[in-house]
Amino acid sequence: MWLLLPILCYSVIYLYVRHIYSYWQRKGFPSEQAALSWDFLSQAYRREFRHVEAICEAYHEGKDRLLGIYCFFRPVLLVRNVDLARNILQQANGHFMDSKWDYVKGYKRFNLLEKLAPMFSTKRLMPMLINAQDVGNNMIQHLQEREERGELELDLQQLLRIYAVNIMGNLVYGLDANNFEQQDHILNIYANSPTRQGHLKSFTLRGVPQKSPLTYRLLDIIQHNVEQREERGIIRKDMLQLLVKLRNGNDLSSDKWQVEHAIEEDKLMSVKRLAQVAEDLLQSALDSLASTITLTLYEIAQQPLIVEKLQAEIKELHFKDGQLQFEQLEDMKYMDMCVKETLRKYPPVPLIERTCRKSYTLPNTKFTIGENKTLMVPLLAIQRDEKYFSEPLKYKPLRFLNEKLKQSEQCRSTFVGFGIGGAQCVAQNFGKMVIKVALIKLLLNYHLEWDENAPVEVSHLPAPIITSANGLKIKLKAREILSHSNYRKNSI
Ligand code: HEM
Repeated sequence: MWLLLPILCYSVIYLYVRHIYSYWQRKGFPSEQAALSWDFLSQAYRREFRHVEAICEAYHEGKDRLLGIYCFFRPVLLVRNVDLARNILQQANGHFMDSKWDYVKGYKRFNLLEKLAPMFSTKRLMPMLINAQDVGNNMIQHLQEREERGELELDLQQLLRIYAVNIMGNLVYGLDANNFEQQDHILNIYANSPTRQGHLKSFTLRGVPQKSPLTYRLLDIIQHNVEQREERGIIRKDMLQLLVKLRNGNDLSSDKWQVEHAIEEDKLMSVKRLAQVAEDLLQSALDSLASTITLTLYEIAQQPLIVEKLQAEIKELHFKDGQLQFEQLEDMKYMDMCVKETLRKYPPVPLIERTCRKSYTLPNTKFTIGENKTLMVPLLAIQRDEKYFSEPLKYKPLRFLNEKLKQSEQCRSTFVGFGIGGAQCVAQNFGKMVIKVALIKLLLNYHLEWDENAPVEVSHLPAPIITSANGLKIKLKAREILSHSNYRKNSI
């Protein structure tokens, strides 16, 4: 009897696992041979399993346009064909659920992401460029102080995490904090421990709300600053101001920055919900911003010709009262190509997922995927596929020079980095702006010297991050700045 019980338990578990892992086969989809190995389980237990890399491997090994895979116990349909992926992401919005951004107030249901979109329009971003430059100037000032102490070999990845934290602290939390100097600031926790909460999330725990240990402290900051804006009428041209306007039901696409108050019952969002939106923005932004700047510098430090071309482009900029103008940033075509190439090789969101609200027939296929099942577009694998981008592991910004792209490639290149269709990154213009500010400040002031023998390992957790012990160790050498854009002395 006592022997029978474990055998029975083992058999039930075995049959249950086999049932899950035969899902795609039973539904008639091309699928991978699935098995739970001890090797996999022990790596998952030690949090060493690299799910992004494993999914890319499945992509490369597959042959059909679709491939059924299993993310732990979750059946996921991998879309291996770029045109099919584009079709799905562009055309089928109503089929997918994105409950995280759903918001209900009284009888009204909103999608908060749609409401946030006007926050990132050119008109709104222009004044925020001044704040972004202030953060960039703090970074250069910090480097100049290190320069005086003779400490110019540093981990650029760490520096740029602080830059990203400061940007979000300044613009989303309305703080003038300078974490380059103020080491004990609460937001510095994000700079010191990369937000690895994304790790395993899409693999095993999707849908489980994850509260950060800082949530309550961040709520306090928001509460205090919202009061300042609503009760004392303080105006600061940042995202928090726009979030407060949104909370009061104001139109975000108008030119006004002051808040038109609504009575408490009519407010669209509680302060708690607003703080949640701010934290979501912070978490969506940090890894993407820091990794894109860091990895651009990592790649260009190995190709001095690219650095020279970028510095030549920067030399053409004219600073008005020491400030860059928004239109000038948009005209930096070579820098655009470099950023795009970084996003191609190292997309901060390497896997795009969609969960079906109801059963959905995939365009131009005979396949129908069931309710609550997940589709996955492996952006990283697609963008490193030789079929779509020649010599995918080489860093070649000029592949995005329009004339050089064949028409089919042009189509595919629209995919790069920020996603595609109705749910693509809402903040992409903001992202490009702050990435460019950091690159301009650093390349205007410094030459990069990278020791090519230093080991650098990039892992996707899921955002790309340099996991080598010393991060990205780079020696900065101060540049002689040329006179007409001369700005090092005046405005850093
Ligand atoms: C290099 C910079 C960035 C890249 C490459 C990037 C890329 C992406 C991608 C690919 C998506 C998913 C699109 C989809 O599901 O189809 C996304 C979503 C999103 N991004 Fe970005 N992003 C960047 C920066 C930012 C920044 C700075 C913010 C905030 C200020 C931000 C806020 C968001 C938000 C709120 C979402 C929706 C997230 C969700 O639905 O969970 N992103 N981003």
